[in-house]
Amino acid sequence: MKLIKYIACSLLLLPAFAQAQQEVPVYLDNSKPIEERVEDALSRLTLEEKVALTHAQSKFCSPGVARLGIPEFWMTDGPHGIRPEVLWDEWEQAGWTNDSCVAFPALTCLAATWNPQIALLYGKNIGEEARYRNKTVLLGPGVNIYRSPLNGRNFEYMGEDPYLAGKMVVPYIQGVQQNGVAACVKHYALNNQEVNRHTTNVIVDDRALYEIYLPAFKAAVQEGKTWAIMGSYNLYKDQHGCHNQYLLNDILKGEWGFDGVVVSDWGGVHNTQEAITNGLDMEFGSWTNGLSNGASNAYDNYYLANPYLQLIREGKVGTKELDDKVRRILRLAYRTNMDRNRPYGALCSEAHFAAARQIGEEGIVLLQNNNNVLPIDLSRAKKIAVIGENAIKMMTVGGGSSSLKVKYELSPLDGIRKRVGDQAEVVYARGYVGDPSGEYNGVKSGQDLEDNRSPEELLAEAVAVAREADYVIFIGGLNKSAHQDCEDADRKELGLSYGQDQVIEALAQANKNLIMVNISGNAISMPWVKEVPAIVQAWYLGSEAGSAIASVLVGDVNPSGKLPFTFPVSLQDVGAHKLGEYPGTPRNDGSHIVDQKYNEGIFVGYRWADKQKAKPLFSFGHGLSYTTFEYGKVTADKKTIAPGEPITFTLTVKNTGNREGAEVVQLYISDKKSSLPRPVKELKGFQKVYLQPGEEKQVSFTIGTDALSFFDDGKHEWVAEPGQFETLIGASATDIRSKVAFELK
Ligand code: BGC
Repeated sequence: MKLIKYIACSLLLLPAFAQAQQEVPVYLDNSKPIEERVEDALSRLTLEEKVALTHAQSKFCSPGVARLGIPEFWMTDGPHGIRPEVLWDEWEQAGWTNDSCVAFPALTCLAATWNPQIALLYGKNIGEEARYRNKTVLLGPGVNIYRSPLNGRNFEYMGEDPYLAGKMVVPYIQGVQQNGVAACVKHYALNNQEVNRHTTNVIVDDRALYEIYLPAFKAAVQEGKTWAIMGSYNLYKDQHGCHNQYLLNDILKGEWGFDGVVVSDWGGVHNTQEAITNGLDMEFGSWTNGLSNGASNAYDNYYLANPYLQLIREGKVGTKELDDKVRRILRLAYRTNMDRNRPYGALCSEAHFAAARQIGEEGIVLLQNNNNVLPIDLSRAKKIAVIGENAIKMMTVGGGSSSLKVKYELSPLDGIRKRVGDQAEVVYARGYVGDPSGEYNGVKSGQDLEDNRSPEELLAEAVAVAREADYVIFIGGLNKSAHQDCEDADRKELGLSYGQDQVIEALAQANKNLIMVNISGNAISMPWVKEVPAIVQAWYLGSEAGSAIASVLVGDVNPSGKLPFTFPVSLQDVGAHKLGEYPGTPRNDGSHIVDQKYNEGIFVGYRWADKQKAKPLFSFGHGLSYTTFEYGKVTADKKTIAPGEPITFTLTVKNTGNREGAEVVQLYISDKKSSLPRPVKELKGFQKVYLQPGEEKQVSFTIGTDALSFFDDGKHEWVAEPGQFETLIGASATDIRSKVAFELK
């Protein structure tokens, strides 16, 4: 009886269910393709709602459409961890207690791993943190090319080579976006210095633009399928990067077919008409009028707010561009906040700390290891002296927008102490005082690093400590304060500040087992290079800095990082400085614009060093190991190829030492003769090979004709010219182990 009643009731209710089902509007219907939902949502929006979608409503958030259940869009820096919350309308801290994160190593370190799998791990982990914190868009990664070692933001980017940066950015994006969080690749494009960053007008030839400055962005769009891109502050062809006809409409959305959103850099918009027509989709601002001052009804004054609405209402502009912007923004919503299959993410998980450590360990570069000073032999060392401010300074606070509030950060000194335990005594001396402050945007490191002793006193103490130790580890470098690897200011010199060179030289006199650990995101000059046996490039490593550094120093981890940029001997060995327009030439027309001509063209980084035959201090791609590798002879599967035909190169690599290790095998292409000037060689392949002691592996690279081509600016297309080429296999750009010639018919 009960069963009959149940069936009867169900039958009666069926039409109501069916009706309820039919009523799910297309824009909310998960089973419908995204583009159909976008069109349906678009058709339901008022003009005011559409315009509102195109600009911020707070420092890091833009509105959704509340009445339709389309969620708000929340942005976060990026790119090394999830930035703490600031107030709705201010840069001050919001004072949340649940917004501490894991700091991952800086992107320079990631690039130094030369391992796309590690980039995927990075993206996945930081994406999970962003997702847990309910973010829609992660403002990163950055792939501006390392043009000058003075650029204050090089630490946030992936080095000097477009191929390497392209290969590393793609998996980072994929990892982030797996979480239903958009990556926002920045700063597109030609943002290669911080000095005059809002007023620099870059003048660069098309070859350098297409061959050097754009390929990593193109890979991010076409291979990484990034859902967002951030326009840059600087100008190109007299238009700001955030509303630039050439970069955004012609290249990004035209040539590359980008279907995501272009987000402005904060305060990077300057003109409503250009913002409407030149490819910008979402405007965000640094101050409440989007530019430089506080204002009432703040966000209504944005260039894409009331001024836009007014132009439409007055009939001065149509809604074609607006609909295109809104379509992209809705697409972003469906890819992120409105994706019902979006995972939940995680914050400060053990796995995230472990990933941060692993990335750091793989990215640390052993630059020099004379007399095999490293790894530290703990069975013999009784006393280890650690000297230098960077051994104790928290590096996750500072540097500008990438500054973080971390759950914890292990300093190098604490990491070394933890690892050494009671196997040896670890003593510390400051050596010099650099930047004792530790605050950014109200986040305080909580450290009191004030020290009023004179440089002479600090030096005397350091030398005395060094004399008595078995090993001396100097940990110095830059520190993310203004002019020391920091947003909005370039460095003032290639050399180290605060008298560090003198301290290092004195330590080298005091103890032959000196190890210099350089913390920076940039090359530095090393006048003491011949006196210091061991030099380690340790980047900004984030939460697990101490553990990663300690494991490399004592040899738990065999270093396998390679430099993603050249260390020049001096600025005169850098094209941007040698050919002399840095930081640019102010115009005398009252416009505040500073022209910056990239006179070196395509000859950036090792391409310049090769051309000038200038021996770098440390080359692009350089990095030593605690074991040794033997390269076999490279062979090609063909002597001649036709256009479009691939060619494969093979060689063996053997670990000839007695511990396991990894070697990054690099493939460079050299065009023997061409109608336009070409670099001596260009990176077109790399592989990180893990080898047990005595193990040998075969390594193969298959390249296509695209790896042989250059951008012909006359024809505006990529051209591979028939003729002779050579493939060079190297352990760095200057350590070429084997070559093979071939011909393109
Ligand atoms: C920086 C961006 C950053 C944004 C938001 C700007 O000043 O250039 O990289 O994402 O601020 O903090």
